[in-house]
Amino acid sequence: MSSFHRINSLQDYKNTYQKSIENPEAFWDEIAKTFTWKKPYTQILDWNFKEPNIQWFADGQLNITENCLDRHLETKGNQIALIFEPNDPNTEVRKYTYQQLHQEVMNFAQVLLNQGIKKGDRVCIYMGMVPELTIAVLACARIGAIHSVIFGGFSAQSITDRLIDAEAEFIITQDAAYRGNKTIPLKSVIDDALIQCSFVKRVIVLTHANEPVSMIKDRDVWWEAELEKVGNANVPAETMNAEDPLFILYTSGSTGKPKGVVHTSGGYMVWANYTFEQVFQYQPEEVHFCTADIGWITGHSYIVYGPLLAGGTTLMFEGIPTYPDAGRFWDIVQKHKVNILYTAPTAIRSLMTNGTEIFNGKDLSSLRVLGTVGEPINEEAWNWYHDNVGKSNCPIVDTWWQTETGGVLISNLAGVTPSRPAWATLPLPGIQPILVDENGKENSEINIETGYVHGNLCIKFPWPGMLRTTYGDHERCRTNYFATYENLYFTGDGAYRDSDGNYRITGRVDDVLNVSGHRIGTAEVENAINMHAGVVESAVVGYPHDIKGQGIYAFVICNDHIHDESLVRRDINETITRIIGAIAKADKIQFVSGLPKTRSGKIMRRILRKIAEGETQNLGDTSTLLDPTIVESILANKQ
Ligand code: PRX
Repeated sequence: MSSFHRINSLQDYKNTYQKSIENPEAFWDEIAKTFTWKKPYTQILDWNFKEPNIQWFADGQLNITENCLDRHLETKGNQIALIFEPNDPNTEVRKYTYQQLHQEVMNFAQVLLNQGIKKGDRVCIYMGMVPELTIAVLACARIGAIHSVIFGGFSAQSITDRLIDAEAEFIITQDAAYRGNKTIPLKSVIDDALIQCSFVKRVIVLTHANEPVSMIKDRDVWWEAELEKVGNANVPAETMNAEDPLFILYTSGSTGKPKGVVHTSGGYMVWANYTFEQVFQYQPEEVHFCTADIGWITGHSYIVYGPLLAGGTTLMFEGIPTYPDAGRFWDIVQKHKVNILYTAPTAIRSLMTNGTEIFNGKDLSSLRVLGTVGEPINEEAWNWYHDNVGKSNCPIVDTWWQTETGGVLISNLAGVTPSRPAWATLPLPGIQPILVDENGKENSEINIETGYVHGNLCIKFPWPGMLRTTYGDHERCRTNYFATYENLYFTGDGAYRDSDGNYRITGRVDDVLNVSGHRIGTAEVENAINMHAGVVESAVVGYPHDIKGQGIYAFVICNDHIHDESLVRRDINETITRIIGAIAKADKIQFVSGLPKTRSGKIMRRILRKIAEGETQNLGDTSTLLDPTIVESILANKQ
């Protein structure tokens, strides 16, 4: 546990929050100075949201791995840092003490150095949820290389796009990954991705599933063989400036291809650690089980960095919640005496469909805190989680945040500030939310009927963990997040606030979908669908889905008469899978003869959204449509 002040009551939260906004620099200085700096900072914050230019602790120097590993060695060398629960419950669990993890990270860091990888190089990591993934991430950070983890469900084309954008010359992957009863050939996907990326110099391949792979001469090397060459290495942590990039993580926006969100070393470190300890109220030696994949920000901050910075024990799970059966999470909780379980509403909703028998004979008494993240949680799922998993004894933290925010921004603090079903509740210290209307004017009046203020959620002051830029395109960062409303960071979400300052997030107000907690841009899916030879044009919107939160509804115009609709639907989804990955498959595809467009040619998504949601009457104003009869024909053929 770190030595900054831990909030311990609602009143303490209020005082701390007040301090954090009255004098942010003094507040963050108190916290940041408890970390290990190679050179202490003297500047704390320099910022403007216009360019934007955000710098925290700018003249300080550090390495995050010294804070994750080295600083714990003396007191916690023999404590378990990482537990690996494999996909198949009958294969071996692996555990790493801090001492062991430190050594493994240094060994692999030496492998990276031997491959010619240097500070500032971008390294793409495409792996399953194996402990070597954590080791690879930390080894990159150790030598100052910028890691960019790509979720194992993305297609070769998505990888190519990211490699080109990040100008990444190095890749770390594995032969294949296990997920439930499937074996996913990751190396072969990488091989496909690299057909268009001759600039990639080296691919390091871990043997995990003993699947056959093709190794390309002078480009591909085996992880194990390279490791053998280095023995027990001693790799000192590279000196990083606080604002040197730590990682790039690609995420979807409302337009264009995914963008590479950049997080930097100092601020991200402070934020990941601070939020982890405050939100979950982590206690020494507790086992923290975050079910996310390290391919997403949740895994970065709350499987790898947050828990290790705090000197905690983090559990990585390779498989899926329903393999070998729907009781797997509960088996893991029992087996490893998990204290904190952090998962997504979509997982809860899907497990709910299996009834409560799956809990029979499972001892969940070790659980102290439950967490949820990724999408709004409905009250039914919240109550089920609370009653059946938490046995009404565990606070639920509903943590709202984003890839761009680095860590949690709005959440109750476990057992310290009140939980409330479907409400993320209060901003973390240092976070100054504001709700605005479309024109950027602050909405502060409470609606007497509802008791809430509603608006687009923005943040008006920087926090250490916020994104600094989008890789290779700073202007895109500005236009995406800082240009909608002057001097505000725009989250893309809508929210309610009550008179006590609690927030309830209602979801995205832009063209970004949240499908099973995965963030997907409608424009991306449309581009993929339009790649299909038979498609003329398409429009994609979200609709409420019982399990996934949102489903993907595609309206598609084809150029020929369709003989077999289900075959074409399958082909279109095959195209989406090839271009983006299976996570972006459309749940519903409706073939239409036209799309509702304004006279200026803009698709009126508002109408399509309503139709997809099942609305038939109140579609709003259709008078500006070029051809209003199109709406009727779409309605008549709705899926
Ligand atoms: O819409 C919000 C939703 O997920 C979006 C961010 O997605 P991503 O960058 O992939 O990060 C997900 C994990 C942090 C947000 O804009 N979201 C995230 N957490 C919540 C949420 N919506 C409601 N409640 C939450 N707790």
